[in-house]
Amino acid sequence: MNNQSLDIATLVKTQKKGFALTQPFYLSDAVFEKDVDSFFYQDWQMAGHVSEIPQAGDYFLFEMMKESVIIVRGKDGTVHALANVCRHRGSRVCIEPRGNTKRFTCPYHAWAFNLDGSLFNARMLDEDHDRSKLGLKRVAVEVFHGLIYVSFSDAPASFDKLRADLDPVLAPFALERTKIAYRESYPVRANWKLLVENYNECYHCTAAHPEFARSHVTHMAAERVEPLNAEMQARSKLAGVPTDYFDCIGSARPKGSPDYACNRYSLFDGYLTGSEDGAPLAPLLGKVKAYDSGASDVYVGILNPMLIYCDHALIYRFIPVDKDTSIQEIIWLVHEDASEGTDYDLDRLKWLWDVTTIADKRIIEKNQEGVNSRFYEPGPFVSMEAYTQRFIEAYLTTLTNA
Ligand code: FES
Ligand code: FE
Repeated sequence: MNNQSLDIATLVKTQKKGFALTQPFYLSDAVFEKDVDSFFYQDWQMAGHVSEIPQAGDYFLFEMMKESVIIVRGKDGTVHALANVCRHRGSRVCIEPRGNTKRFTCPYHAWAFNLDGSLFNARMLDEDHDRSKLGLKRVAVEVFHGLIYVSFSDAPASFDKLRADLDPVLAPFALERTKIAYRESYPVRANWKLLVENYNECYHCTAAHPEFARSHVTHMAAERVEPLNAEMQARSKLAGVPTDYFDCIGSARPKGSPDYACNRYSLFDGYLTGSEDGAPLAPLLGKVKAYDSGASDVYVGILNPMLIYCDHALIYRFIPVDKDTSIQEIIWLVHEDASEGTDYDLDRLKWLWDVTTIADKRIIEKNQEGVNSRFYEPGPFVSMEAYTQRFIEAYLTTLTNA
């Protein structure tokens, strides 16, 4: 759908509350362009984990659509995010996806930049140019419990409130003392919103995820879940895991403010963690003293949910490629001292979310095929899809304000 004259404001205004989005939200090039500007280049995006760059000079590239950012540890240990665009004539400066270097040298005419982005050398450049103004552009970066977030925005939303509110929620798990045990990218032939909508509801879990539904309660009615959560909270207290969480993905999403939310819920009896048989998968994280048989859902922005069990954590990244294609990436984190083969078995660790994400890919792609049809007509949400509805309301609010 290449409808340049599409009026997005009218599209938003005529969207029926409580119903799935209308077709142009998924098929229109104009809407996708607006999505790119309103979301991907405004929100904070999870770029990686500090364990990927332990030494000075370690770097990796974070790439999203047209943008490429060098995430690098400076000489003094600071994490820098630098636009991967040469200040001479614009070439990519860093080509390798990860590595270690003393400085970055552009492959085109060999301008060289220090680890903090400042210009080190520009051959034959007239002395009258101010070299201090020709460093690589700095991209906003925040390191939060070991997770590295960047924003492409010129005026990124403050991270302060999110940091203060989520600090006590994340502290017991010491994610800054974890390492990446495994990461996997799942390409999905669907618009990014269908991935986020799917992640935010478990109405589909009974039918689509028999493996997940055995251990997780999120597909059950609230009456069934509340007693289990009450029992878990007593265990959580002993385990040193706070559960007096708040829930703050609001539909009135203030412009320029990153959304965040969290809650901890119980697994079914017999499941200590998100494993096939309920048994532990890895050493306990951080300061967690015992298994409370719970899982924390934590959201930092719309595209960056995470799920934290007592012995491992998963970071999700929804990466738009173009209007019709997205990538679902999952990063599995375990305690930094855990050794593969001794302290954890990789196949067991990744089993649940690998099998679940493969199933999600299938249902989301079928969802997209139906949405493409001339017979598609948005239907009503049910109460179990409340988080998906909130995502849609937040999305519409952002489009309106953008
Ligand atoms: Fe980088 Fe010329 S474009 S040195
Ligand atoms: Fe799913």
